[in-house]
Amino acid sequence: MRVVAALLLLFPAFAVFADNHQGSADAGAAQAAVCAACHGETGNSMLPNNPHIAGQNFKYLFRQMQLIRDGERPAPLMIGQLDNKTDQDLMDLAAYYESQAPKRDVAADADLELGERIYRAGILDKGVAACAACHGPSGAGNAPAGFPRIAGQESEYFINQMTAYREGQRLTDEYLGGVMRQIAIGLTDGEIAAVANYAKGLR
Ligand code: HEC
Ligand code: HEC
Repeated sequence: MRVVAALLLLFPAFAVFADNHQGSADAGAAQAAVCAACHGETGNSMLPNNPHIAGQNFKYLFRQMQLIRDGERPAPLMIGQLDNKTDQDLMDLAAYYESQAPKRDVAADADLELGERIYRAGILDKGVAACAACHGPSGAGNAPAGFPRIAGQESEYFINQMTAYREGQRLTDEYLGGVMRQIAIGLTDGEIAAVANYAKGLR
C-alpha cells in the first residue's frame, strides 16, 4: 500500500482510478434498483449467466461499465442499461457494488485438482500463467491494479468470458497486451471448466 501511496503523490492523475473517493455508494444505491433484476439485490446474481458484481473492485467495475456503455464490450443484456449515465453515475455505482459483501459459493467435486493446479501454477508448457499471480491466492483480485475478483463467480459466466477472450470477442484486456486472450488461447474447454469450478469455491 505504501508503494501505491507513493505513486499517488507522484502522479495525482492516478487518483481517479486508484480509490473510490470519487464515487458515492449512497448515490450508487439510488440507481441500483433496475440492476437488481439481473445482478441481484446487492450485486449477487441469482442467474448463472449474470455476473456477481458485489465486492468487485472499484477500478475494474468503473472501467467495464464505461466500456459497456461506450459499446466497446459487447454485452447484449446490458444494452440500454448504462446509455444515459455519466462517468460520475458509473463511479457511484462502482462505489456501491464494491461496498457490498461478495457471495461465497462451493465448487463441485469434479476436476477440482486440475482446476487448482491451473489456478496456482498455470500450465508451463502451454505458456499459461498462474491465475493466482494476478487474481490473488484467494481469488479476491488486485484492487489497486483493477484486476477483477473471480472468487465465487458463476461458472457459466466465467466460462463465457474465458471463451470470449479466447475467440477474440472480448478485447477489453488489450490495454494489457491481451493478457487474458493469451492465457485463454492455451486452455481447452475442459481446462476452462475445471478452473471456473475451482474459482467458484475460492474464498
Ligand atoms: C437484463 C439483465 C441485466 C440488467 C438489468 C443489468 N445487467 Fe449488468 N450484466 C448483465 C449480463 C448478462 C452481463 C454479462 C455480459 C457479458 O456476457 O459480457 C452484465 C455485466 C455487467 C458488468 C460487468 C461485470 C464483470 O464482471 O465484468 C457490470 C459492472 C454490470 N453488468 C453492471 C450493471 C449495472 C450497474 C446495472 C444497472 C444500471 C446492470 N448491470 C443492469 C445483465 C444485466
Ligand atoms: C497477468 C495477470 C493475469 C493473469 C495471470 C490472469 N488474469 Fe484473468 N484477468 C486479468 C485482468 C487484468 C482481467 C480484466 C481484463 C479486462 O479488462 O477485460 C482479467 C479478467 C479475467 C476474467 C473475467 C472476469 C469478469 O468478471 O468478467 C476471468 C474469468 C479471468 N480473468 C480468469 C483467469 C484465469 C482462469 C486465469 C488463469 C488461467 C487468469 N485469469 C490469469 C489478469 C490476469
